[in-house]
Amino acid sequence: MKILIIGPGALGCLFAGFLSKTQEVIILDKNPKRAQFISEQGIRLEGISGNWQAKVSVTANPGTIKEIDLVLICVKSYDTKQALNQVKSLVGENTLVLTLQNGLGNIEVIGEVVGQDKVIGAVTNQGATLLSDGYIRHAGKGETVIGRIDGKIPVQLKEIREIFNKSGLETRISRDIKGLIWSKLIINVGINALTAITRLNNGKLVEFEGTARILRDAVTEAVKIAKKKRIKLIYDDPLAKVEAVCEATAINVSSMLQDILKKKKTEIDFINGVVVRQGQSLGIATPVNSVLVNLVKTIEVSYDIQVK
Ligand code: PAF
Repeated sequence: MKILIIGPGALGCLFAGFLSKTQEVIILDKNPKRAQFISEQGIRLEGISGNWQAKVSVTANPGTIKEIDLVLICVKSYDTKQALNQVKSLVGENTLVLTLQNGLGNIEVIGEVVGQDKVIGAVTNQGATLLSDGYIRHAGKGETVIGRIDGKIPVQLKEIREIFNKSGLETRISRDIKGLIWSKLIINVGINALTAITRLNNGKLVEFEGTARILRDAVTEAVKIAKKKRIKLIYDDPLAKVEAVCEATAINVSSMLQDILKKKKTEIDFINGVVVRQGQSLGIATPVNSVLVNLVKTIEVSYDIQVK
């Protein structure tokens, strides 16, 4: 299988490294200098899977890529449409597009560009941190779950599962990928914005009374929406689950806090922002998520303002 990975971030490099063990992998990077550097140096990995290197071709020019069987979208959610438009002509009749992104709405955005039949949703518990260009720490091993929004399991989906497993990425198929994506979303709703605003590690959120209370209220609002939409979450007690994730990932710097520390745009619109927008259309009040969204957006636009 010829696999195109868009975005050489932590997860993009991790999947490229493992998949290149058994398949032909190409990475598309928007930055030509970095593309050349990673092409020459290869992807370097350290952490729980040991220290190793993978040779992968990286290009910034989609025009040089031909006939792709599978596209893995590993860019930030706000870049999905632009990234996909670049490679639209490479998505042939039998090409599938799999999203490994955070948040809600990516499947729909990809479906609008290539057609919903070609889209595969995924949730991964693999953890990776980008140390420098093409250099990552494999921080946590966990299963990846893939599935179609309509629950169908065509033979190509099984093939992708086999290839991922053969490459060392533990993978299974779910008929309810929506439930899994919402289950992950609720964890991100409770943790990401709060850590970004307070600049705390995940574990600290449940240690302080104030953050623990805001976390609880943000999660409660999101769960109300999930219930109204009849989404089946994969855990019985959402608040207990989010608190447990805080403890299990206590020393993590959440992905949103990492963005804030690098003065980058965050995925707030696809996490707490989704809760606010869906709340509005369903008539469910989401005041806590609304405050979180507005604070993170204020941080994003005020990086260079100094306190006088
Ligand atoms: O986005 C993240 O950082 C992660 O999904 C999680 C689970 C919050 C752990 O840091």
